[in-house]
Amino acid sequence: MSDTIQKNLNYKQFVVDSKLQYFKPHASKIEKTFAEEISSSLNRNSKFITPKFFYDKKGSDLFEKICMLPEYYPTRTEIAILKNLQIELPKHLDDSFRLVELGSGASVKTRLILDIFTTLQNSIEYVPIDISEILAESSEQLLKDYDNLHITGIIDTYEGGLEFLENYDDKKNLILFLGSSFGNFSPNDGKNFLQKINSTMKLGDLFLIGLDLVKDKRILESAYDDSQGVTAQFNLNVLSRINDELGANFDLNNFSHYSTYNEEYQRIEMYLKSLSSQSVVVSKSNLLLNLEKNELIHTEHSYKFNLSQVRNLLESTGFKIHHIWLDDKKYFSLTLASKN
Ligand code: AVI
Repeated sequence: MSDTIQKNLNYKQFVVDSKLQYFKPHASKIEKTFAEEISSSLNRNSKFITPKFFYDKKGSDLFEKICMLPEYYPTRTEIAILKNLQIELPKHLDDSFRLVELGSGASVKTRLILDIFTTLQNSIEYVPIDISEILAESSEQLLKDYDNLHITGIIDTYEGGLEFLENYDDKKNLILFLGSSFGNFSPNDGKNFLQKINSTMKLGDLFLIGLDLVKDKRILESAYDDSQGVTAQFNLNVLSRINDELGANFDLNNFSHYSTYNEEYQRIEMYLKSLSSQSVVVSKSNLLLNLEKNELIHTEHSYKFNLSQVRNLLESTGFKIHHIWLDDKKYFSLTLASKN
């Protein structure tokens, strides 16, 4: 353990009580600021805003609303698969695993896995890794509901958190990466990320990843352009965020949500469309943005996979697949894998 502390010296430990502690890096690695990222991503011919900026408080609330929409099948489908794993997953686990989650884990899905752990262990260790301090809120709620739970939150990037864990101890980890969040990476970044996860895993660790599958274009397109307009609000909210945090003057009435499924690339593409020729100032990014009528600002890709791509993706990044679970309609997949 003293070795462990040595290796993670650049993290500060906050002990809340005997059941809850956090680790946070002393100084975050040198990353570009929001203002700098927006300055470079909007100051070019093909303009984009990185989807990680969707998730301020309002954006996170809107995303939760999306997850409950009738058109947005991924969340409820993944939950249905997880419910069916209550018998299957324990066959791959024993009482020596801790649960690690990439994301803050406020959701029903985390609870379904914690329920499985409850049948196997008297005392459960849960390690959520999330850059956002929301992690603190969701942890407190989980502790109220599970009295056999101990939480060690890591407030850092996924990569940083996984490296921390690699140096932490020798306990076996079941690492969750749910919700098809992987689909928002570009293929190249996605592969690098899987290799990174793999390189921090020990032999015996397990990885459970949720990936959305290719399906009828109409089903995909309505999932990303729902009838209540919540996805549109979610997309447009990133402009409000830039207005509030970077002193910009985007008029949201001058933009519309546009999304389409690109069959060749197997991805939903989401954009904000400029409804007129207009100029916008983003003061903190030192930017005067000129947009033409119908010009598109790209905001998100959401990749969909077929089963052979799922297999290939994991095998080519150093994993051995133990099982792929699907729902009845084959809309969504959950893959359990270990380091090869
Ligand atoms: C977070 N991510 C997996 C969602 C998705 O389906 O790609 C984000 C989202 N964008 C629009 N609706 C949902």
